[in-house]
Amino acid sequence: MQLKEKIETLLEEARKIRIASLEESENYRIRLLGKKGELNRLFEEFKQVEPSLKKDLGQSLNQLKNAVQEAIQKAREEFQGQNLSEEDPALDLTRPVETGTGYRHPLSLVKEEIFRIFAGIGFDISDGPEIEDDWHLFTALNFSPEHPARDMQDTFFIEKNGGITDVALRTHTSSVQIRAMETQPLPIRTLCPGRVYRNEVVSARAHCFFHQVEGLYVDKGVSYADLREVLLYFAKEMFGPKTRIRLRPSYFPFTEPSAEMDIACSLCGGKGCSLCKGTGWVEILGCGMVDPNVLENCRIDPALYSGFAFGMGVERIANLLYRVNDLRLFSENDKRFLSQF
Ligand code: PHE
Repeated sequence: MQLKEKIETLLEEARKIRIASLEESENYRIRLLGKKGELNRLFEEFKQVEPSLKKDLGQSLNQLKNAVQEAIQKAREEFQGQNLSEEDPALDLTRPVETGTGYRHPLSLVKEEIFRIFAGIGFDISDGPEIEDDWHLFTALNFSPEHPARDMQDTFFIEKNGGITDVALRTHTSSVQIRAMETQPLPIRTLCPGRVYRNEVVSARAHCFFHQVEGLYVDKGVSYADLREVLLYFAKEMFGPKTRIRLRPSYFPFTEPSAEMDIACSLCGGKGCSLCKGTGWVEILGCGMVDPNVLENCRIDPALYSGFAFGMGVERIANLLYRVNDLRLFSENDKRFLSQF
């Protein structure tokens, strides 16, 4: 066959070809445009033709090349995305996607704000295990043997070989305070954040797990006045400079004296509303002076050292700041909820 005829046959094919997949288009490309493909062979042959024919044949060859490229391009546009592989030149990994960015979880936002506030007065952060032993959860914290927290009704104990052990999912991060006192040099000024678990029926107002940030300060001469000033500073930073606090006497096995701290209701300013149940105050944390027994349990001499501790629920603070009326929203990962923060 003459060169001219060969070109025309392939040109005819290129104009009529029906490519049905990316794979077919790739095969076609290799057959026509590949190193050992038809076009290169034709160009080799073209070198031998008489100069007088070169102009005409050269134009036909270029026409053929364009038609082949067009057919391949058309197929790519049609089938792109159906069978992408990383080697595929049609795949553009630099193209921006339109999925939008994620959101910070409200509990992370609140937790980080608490860290920021306490970092400003020298508190660092301590970490501890979520599965904890009786010593760190209860005994070292001065809980009596018959305290209800040791009851399976309140605490998730770990079973082993069909029997209950004295190891449990931690019910508070006070266990981390014990670990801090056992291992860190004095003075200690630390926050203990983390997830805690309690055996509660899940509802809008209670959950079987929630998040705490507890704090501990142990040094020579730490007083109740220090506790009050630190918590007042925290409340003003967190809820605004006009925030008022009150400390109500309370009881915890590990602090003496113990108190619960309320802030003047941020919704009604203390007049009484549904948020504060008409009282004008909302409770935000428990606190107190570390019981001397607890210091002794951690080999700290209560004659030389004293300390205060406090503990708050991150969900509770987030509720006050953002008015979330159902605790379950915090752990459901519903984008409609999360996108609001
Ligand atoms: N551990 C207490 C709780 O979980 C909170 C608390 C911490 C109270 C430190 C006083 C001092 O409820």
